[in-house]
Amino acid sequence: MNVLVVGGGAREHAICDAVYRSKNADIYSIMHNLNPGIEFLSKEYLLEEETNIDRVVDYAKKKEIDLALIGPEAPLEAGLTDELTRNGISVCSPTSKAARIETDKEWMRNLLRKYGIHGQLKYETFTDVKKSKRFIEEFDGDVAIKPIGLTGGKGVKVSGDHFYGTDEALEYVEEVINQKIGGKAKVLIEEKAVGEEFTLQAFSDGNSILPLHAVQDHKRLFPGDEGPNTGGMGSYSCADGLLPFLPRSSYEEAAAILQEIIEALNREGCKYIGPIYGQFMVTAECPKIIEINARFGDPEAMNVLPLLETDFIELCTSMLDGSLSNKKLRLNKKSTVCKYVVPEGYGVKSMVGEKVLVDEKSIKNTGSKLFYASVNKKDDFVYTTSSRSLAVVGIADALSDAEKMCEDALNYVQGKHIFIRHDIGTEELIEKRMKHMKKLNVM
Ligand code: AMP
Ligand code: GLY
Repeated sequence: MNVLVVGGGAREHAICDAVYRSKNADIYSIMHNLNPGIEFLSKEYLLEEETNIDRVVDYAKKKEIDLALIGPEAPLEAGLTDELTRNGISVCSPTSKAARIETDKEWMRNLLRKYGIHGQLKYETFTDVKKSKRFIEEFDGDVAIKPIGLTGGKGVKVSGDHFYGTDEALEYVEEVINQKIGGKAKVLIEEKAVGEEFTLQAFSDGNSILPLHAVQDHKRLFPGDEGPNTGGMGSYSCADGLLPFLPRSSYEEAAAILQEIIEALNREGCKYIGPIYGQFMVTAECPKIIEINARFGDPEAMNVLPLLETDFIELCTSMLDGSLSNKKLRLNKKSTVCKYVVPEGYGVKSMVGEKVLVDEKSIKNTGSKLFYASVNKKDDFVYTTSSRSLAVVGIADALSDAEKMCEDALNYVQGKHIFIRHDIGTEELIEKRMKHMKKLNVM
């Protein structure tokens, strides 16, 4: 079987790794940077922008692709699934209409409202700054302000983290509207949810889902959750599929919400096939929906895909033929800790073109997995771009052992201008999360 993987990040390296473990699959890949991990696993690759639909479809036809998997959100929004499907190629990713669950935050909130889906937050959208003032004041300025469209995970600002009070909130509302951040002169304002965040990813065949282990991502750049939001600095998951602060009941509520969402999408005439991602906040009441993504998370894909014991291609086939409910999902019951290596200055002004030495063999000997991200390979070295460089994932029974394994492996990544959030998955940070939840009376 010829499988096309679209995207050149660490998430796509993890997808390629899962495909590679399946029998009888030849991998073809399309990426805009030369990811050495994907290059190694691919029979052939094409260096091309993932949103260049004509070139991608052309390549897929030439290579007689049987199954395409799309990693990032931009080609989903650009309609790559639709165009490949129109050319007779099976795609295990949502159509651009179904992907609006991620690419249009207003549409997503309206869908939740229309179908009375649990975990909704109070929200309104505005095109006029003045009109938004009353809504912001209702929450004493305690709101999240979001551009409507895609911003690479960097357009959302939350009170207490990025601004304080109504006046500063209004300044950002004005910026989003005037500068059309996220593509529209419109802004989404939501009540701020207080609690701890987690990600639940699931496979969907459009009718039913199979949820994976819960994961906690770390969006903020600096240790202790300080600094600007990033695409995600690292993440962890636990052997039992839950998280230290996440009770089974909340996990199940989140899975039920994802199920309600794919049913609502079905009723809207946009059947959802592929991986779906829910970001939730465990609050004193119930899990609240922060965002829904139409793909695997990055870094969260790297916590769950290495644990798959069920053949990944078989799962994709079941998503496509609607037989997921007959499928048993087998996952290796291990804990995982993933830490990203990023260029110094990432999130503000990355140091681009810096050499990074990666001792792949020694990393492998620690038992960790290595996933390359946005680096370019030249000769025997990799060089930073403005985005995240590579990720290392420790996998062990106990979370503390997975964290140690990840740190051991990181010793074999050397560069003068790299940065890592070493606190991810540590006991100290997890203690802090538990204390936070106890203070909110959630635990
Ligand atoms: P998003 O890009 O929607 O994932 O938002 C980025 C981050 O902002 C999330 O991971 C949350 O930490 C935070 N956030 C977004 N919406 C809210 C909200 N309504 N309440 C509290 N925090 C939020
Ligand atoms: N980890 C956040 C995302 O993939 O959007």
